[in-house]
Amino acid sequence: MSETGQAAPLLSVRNLRTHFHTRSGTAKAVDGVDITLARGEILGLVGESGSGKSISGFSIMGLVDPPGRVVGGRIEFDGRDLLGLSDAEWRRLRGNEIAMIFQDPSMTLNPVLRVDTQMVETVLAHADVGREEALRRAREALVMVGIPSPDERLRAYPFELSGGMRQRVAIAIALINDPRLVIADEPTTALDVSIQGQIIHEMKKLCRRKGTALIWVTHDLAVVAGLADRIAVMYAGRVVEFGPTADIIRRPLHPYTGGLIASVPSRATRGRRLHQIPGMTPSLSDLDGGCAFRTRCERASAACAVAPEESVPEPGRTFRCWHPLGGRA
Ligand SMILES: Nc1ncnc2c1ncn2[C@@H]1O[C@H](COP(=O)(O)OP(=O)(O)OP(=O)(O)O)[C@@H](O)[C@H]1O
Ligand code: SF4
Ligand SMILES: [Mg+2]
Repeated sequence: MSETGQAAPLLSVRNLRTHFHTRSGTAKAVDGVDITLARGEILGLVGESGSGKSISGFSIMGLVDPPGRVVGGRIEFDGRDLLGLSDAEWRRLRGNEIAMIFQDPSMTLNPVLRVDTQMVETVLAHADVGREEALRRAREALVMVGIPSPDERLRAYPFELSGGMRQRVAIAIALINDPRLVIADEPTTALDVSIQGQIIHEMKKLCRRKGTALIWVTHDLAVVAGLADRIAVMYAGRVVEFGPTADIIRRPLHPYTGGLIASVPSRATRGRRLHQIPGMTPSLSDLDGGCAFRTRCERASAACAVAPEESVPEPGRTFRCWHPLGGRA
């Protein structure tokens, strides 16, 4: 506990900046992102394609490859400065205390190895146990993520499994060493809606039961509305709104968040054409320093040529906008 009586966060990301230096310019994929996550908390990281969600996740995991580079900021996990870790320290942490689930399970699964081999290796890389115990944990992890006939699946190769099963195995591998933080990067987007719903429901239950913190990355606000404790809305490399899920859904402050909510199908909008935010996400290589949403924003004014500072309308909520919803346009 700190002097203020608040428990220290599990993850604290401050002013994170990850840029890609390419021939066509510098893409500021992540440009001043702040995220705080408590132990066992579920955060939804939401935004359109190209807003910097995956690169934020990769930055936290130490997985940014050239030409990308973390050029500024601070990432603390349980009080440890992640940006200062050596490769050996990263190997001890990744897959053990922090794990990632990717959109494509083939990022995790090796096609030429059986599921049991891959799972046992993941356990043995971090725990001082024998093969038999590692295999027992592998089986238990498959059961935990709702895989029927786990013994049969353990002996299978990834190509022998359906897409949904492969993703469940990748999730089981991420969870097998009881990480304290899981970053899930759109892991259900490629699956059909009912399997997506099942996996999300099971992940939530598992994280709650084990006290695992989860960052769920998605372009779909509806997905995190029922899953996350808090939501961070990203636009063009920045978190433009952050706060408790229910508050954000009930009373969005940033016009972009308002647009995302209006474009989610609901009972109220059944039979009507859904709202679509006009225009496209700008290229992150030629942002001019003003509010990046202003080419698409109905509330834009001359003031918006200057990037809005972060405002704190109430404890636990932040947004970046000169003319928030609910205020004067
Ligand atoms: N390898 C790369 N080379 C150059 N720029 C890159 C590279 N990877 C990402 N970027 C830049 O980073 C931006 C953000 O990418 P990121 O993958 O984080 O988006 P995202 O929000 O995860 O989108 P999606 O929903 O499509 O997965 C891209 O729009 C691009 O400008
Ligand atoms: S700062 Fe201006 S352009 Fe940006 S979201 Fe707010 S009103 Fe719209
Ligand atoms: Mg992505």
